[in-house]
Amino acid sequence: MFSVRADETSKQSCRHTEKVGPKNNNSSCTLPMKYFIETYGCQMNKYDSELVAGILEGAGYCPSLRPEDADVILVNTCSVRQHAEQRVLQRLNSFKALKLERPDLKIGVLGCMAQRLGEKILVEKPFIDFVIGPDSYRNILQVLNGVHSEQRESSPKIFLNEYESKETYADVCPVRVRGVNAWVAVMRGCNNYCTYCIVPYVRGRERSRSAQNVIEEIRRLVDEGFVEVTLLGQNVNSYWDGEHDFADLLAMVAKVEGIERVRFATSHPKDLSEKLVRVIAENEKICNHIHLPVQSGSTRILQLMNRHYSREDFLAKVEMIRKYLNPVGLTTDIIVGFPGEEEDDFRQTVELVREVEFDSAFVFKYSPRPGTRAAQFDDVVSAAEKTRRLEEINTLQKEITKSKNRQLIGQRGVILVEGRSKKSETDVMGRLETNKIVVIPNTILPKGKLVEVTIVGADGVTLFGRVNHQN
Ligand code: 5AD
Ligand code: SF4
Repeated sequence: MFSVRADETSKQSCRHTEKVGPKNNNSSCTLPMKYFIETYGCQMNKYDSELVAGILEGAGYCPSLRPEDADVILVNTCSVRQHAEQRVLQRLNSFKALKLERPDLKIGVLGCMAQRLGEKILVEKPFIDFVIGPDSYRNILQVLNGVHSEQRESSPKIFLNEYESKETYADVCPVRVRGVNAWVAVMRGCNNYCTYCIVPYVRGRERSRSAQNVIEEIRRLVDEGFVEVTLLGQNVNSYWDGEHDFADLLAMVAKVEGIERVRFATSHPKDLSEKLVRVIAENEKICNHIHLPVQSGSTRILQLMNRHYSREDFLAKVEMIRKYLNPVGLTTDIIVGFPGEEEDDFRQTVELVREVEFDSAFVFKYSPRPGTRAAQFDDVVSAAEKTRRLEEINTLQKEITKSKNRQLIGQRGVILVEGRSKKSETDVMGRLETNKIVVIPNTILPKGKLVEVTIVGADGVTLFGRVNHQN
């Protein structure tokens, strides 16, 4: 869960701001309305919250550090698993008391849950004022003006995505937390319809921003002091702006002066091309890290999941990646307990994890999502069995991560310093291009600096290093 920090945000000097909402004369923030956004879910959601902040600040709103001080509380939500939704519903209840204390407070639910549940949220939680789906954020000012006006009862409270929305928010300037890395969504939506996944239903069809527009945003980010960008999409490999594919886009982004590192997420194994991997290999600034969700090691289950690749196809992609990229950070997502997953299917996933030796893996228990195809499948795996399978893979992956990290001791690598280490005031932390975190004893290295280090220790997922020389 993330919240926008009022003390750390940076408003871009963006010449498009006027397009997204009437700038009021309050932009000096003397008597502004204050907003607070809390974000659940993936990086794309975090980026979307930055977009919403951009729309609000373009109209004169100012960020608030705490929900207690805000005039508008927004919760940007995730529907990918039931557990994520439950957390949000509980959190929403905690805002009810604030609403009772201050009836003028406006509370809005944004994102995937807003799209999925719509009016149901307003009926079940009458203290919520409005819901807005992921492609309808431009309506937020209209909604807020309505709920603040005389015609509160007749003003719209529900804005959901239009079918086949073309929205890319290309002209909206996100308000980002100051730092080293900025997220940039290059496409939205997903056409893949994996049978377990709610995303295509709540985020709509795929659409891409133009490469030119992405490059313009990245140039502005350099002016703002960002040195690393992460290009985001539900499946970046199907990026297509009518002229450029994702490999072309990556190569263009890597050429933007001032950008030191380029990352991206997420890749679908069926669409990861040799051309893309070559572009990564040829461009020093594009990080050798690929997040490649396998989901299952059993071809039978992959078919039931509608993933369009077999176990062998996936292993061939990994081989191709390792032929071009060395070192490479390879991370994945795995779902255990998909309907019909037999012990034998699960063993194939375990064997694949052993064979590939991912650097890390996010393992999830299958969670049925109403409206998806898999929610109607029989052969449900019990909750206890899902837990057992999850724990087995997590234990195995932990061992692999540890052993791979130990093999790095004595090796050199370059980290991009991100700031103080969370655990020690006298250390700073940064990432290798493979996305592994390295902690080094140092207090003077500034954020955003590239430094060569030697790895001297490894503890679980964390690596420890010493600076080789300072430029
Ligand atoms: N149940 C469990 N995990 C899921 N994911 C997506 N949908 C579900 C679901 N219904 C996982 C996938 C995906 C990651 C973002 O979330 O592994 O890659
Ligand atoms: Fe969901 Fe599959 Fe699209 Fe990923 S590729 S967002 S898992 S439907």
